[in-house]
Order: sequence, then C-alpha cells, then structure tokens
Amino acid sequence: MPPSQHAQPVVAGSAKCLVVDDEPSVRSFLIRMLQAQGFQCFEASSGREALLVLERIGELPLIVSDMRMPEMDGISFLEVVRERYPDTSVIMLTGVSETSTAVDCLHRGAADFLLKPVSMSELQARITRALEKRALVLQNRFYQENLERQVHEQAVRIQELFLQGVQMLARALEAKDSYTRGHSIRVSQYAVATASHMGFEGPSLDGIRLGGELHDIGKIGTREAVLHKAGSLTAEEFRQISEHPVLGERMLAPLAQESPDVLRIVRSHHERLDGRGFPDGLRGANIPIEARIVAVADAFDAMTTRRPYRDSRPPADALAELRRVAGSQLDPDAVEAFVQTHPSGQTVAALV
Ligand SMILES: [Fe+2]
Repeated sequence: MPPSQHAQPVVAGSAKCLVVDDEPSVRSFLIRMLQAQGFQCFEASSGREALLVLERIGELPLIVSDMRMPEMDGISFLEVVRERYPDTSVIMLTGVSETSTAVDCLHRGAADFLLKPVSMSELQARITRALEKRALVLQNRFYQENLERQVHEQAVRIQELFLQGVQMLARALEAKDSYTRGHSIRVSQYAVATASHMGFEGPSLDGIRLGGELHDIGKIGTREAVLHKAGSLTAEEFRQISEHPVLGERMLAPLAQESPDVLRIVRSHHERLDGRGFPDGLRGANIPIEARIVAVADAFDAMTTRRPYRDSRPPADALAELRRVAGSQLDPDAVEAFVQTHPSGQTVAALV
C-alpha cells in the first residue's frame, strides 16, 4: 500500500525507529510508511539481529516488530527489550489467529499491537498513541525527579542556613567571654584529629567536627553570671549549667534526621565512663563514642586555657591528667588516640 498523501508526520525531525520482520517485503513496506511519517528507520530480520542493531545504535523511541520470526520470536524479543530498554515503545504485529498472543504482548509491556495486514492510517494512529503515552511517562518521570531534587535541595539549603545560624550563635557565645574564645573550634580540631586517628572518616568525621564545634551551644540558655562566675558554683548554679547538654540537643533538633551523631555529642559530652557524669549518668560503652572523643578534646582544651577560676596548665601536665582519669572519667582509647596525635601536647591555640 503506498503512503497516504494525507499522512501527517507523527514526530518532528527524525526520530529513530527499528522495524523487525523476517519478511523483506513487509519490512520495506513498513519502512516506507514510517519514513513518510518522518522516522529514520533501522531494520532487522529477527529478534536476535534486532538486539545487535540496538546494541550498536542504543535506545530509541519506537520498535515495530513482527511476532513470528525465526531464531528469536517476538515475545522473547519484547521481553529482552523491556528489560534492557524500558523507555522504548514496542508495537507488535500479529496475525488474526494470534490475538490471544497479542493480548499477552500487552501484559508483557508492549505499547500496542496491530493486526496484519497493516493499514497506513492504523499504523499512524497506533504510533501516535504509543509515542504520546511514552512522552507522558518520560515527562512525568522528569517532573517527579525534578521535584524530588528541588525538595531535596531546599531541605539541604534550609539545613545549611540553620547550621550557619547556630554556628554564628556558638561564636557569639564565645565572643562575649575571653576565657572561652575559640574553645569550640579548638575542641572540634582536637576531636577530629583524635577521631581520624581512631579510623573515623567521611560523614562520621564531619559529624564529630560539627559536634565539637557546637557541643556547648546549650550554654546560650545559661545565665552569664553563672557562666562566668569566678568562685565555686552553688548547687543551684551547678544544676543550671548542667542543663546545657539537654538544652543544646533541643536547639539542634532540626539536625536530628541528617546528623544524629551531632546531637549525641551535644547531649553526652559531659558523661563519664564511671557513670558519674550528666545529664543521663551513662556508663562506659553506653556513652556514644563520638561524645567520648569530644569529652577528651574538651577536657584538654579546658585545662590548657585560662578560666575565671584558675590559670591554664602546661600541655604536658594536661596530657598526664588525661591519662590519670582515663578509665574513670574519660575513654582510655580516645585518650590514647589523643596523646598519639598530640604527643608533645601542642595546642591549637595559635590557630584561633
Ligand atoms: Fe559542655
């Protein structure tokens, strides 16, 4: 049948199409019709040959394939195409006696089927429908993926803004107090060096870096008179200052999903191995390892910097003190890793 003069191109430009049929005359007839509709056509005389063509040219929008062919029949070919090229629309050609097989084709993912002999108008209508459906599927997927990406990007941005906010808050907290200025950054650096020596890397190391930086953020809720008191604290004042790990954890709740390790550090950095720490009185391995590492860094920095109630201690003394309390207050492995990474007790005070 010659191409109809009223045939409209189904696609703009030259979309690619593969025609698979063992009858050369049917093949060239189909190709002529498809070319008249604007397709750039490839051909194959069997399923096996068609797969070789696809390997060479890659995924394409449309395949028109006969059902009965030697070597590999239409159904087997269809199954392989669906698996390897899920976005290709396959239209199967069947004889009248094969209608039940044709329905089977649809169940197996064919876009449509056509009964032989094929008419130009019918072929055009089916192709249009199959390609429209394919375009919708691709469009939906694109929007879906785009939407998911945008939502994810926004979530990341919101988290970044939140983090910038609390990091600024941490700096502001320290800026008011000459004794603790730079404390959180130093603790973060000590903790990262120690954790890295213990084998932490990637996101877990990032969590320790951030947790070290924010470990005292809850002190923003502690009265300055208590924070900067030169003498010893009353029981009530101690209770107030002891709340900062829990307050800090509450402040950082928006990080709970993405960075739970940061929250663990903030909550548990004042726990002691012997269970006499706060706020939960956790013992030994019940204290999160990240918090045990930060506790060592925190203790070393507290000892080697001047506080309202005492002078700073020489780094070597501080290292000796860390070793003395390893096992009762501090984690011995974390202390050992700290000492290994700071063997002469050098501080990072010059950096901040
Ligand atoms: Fe603290």
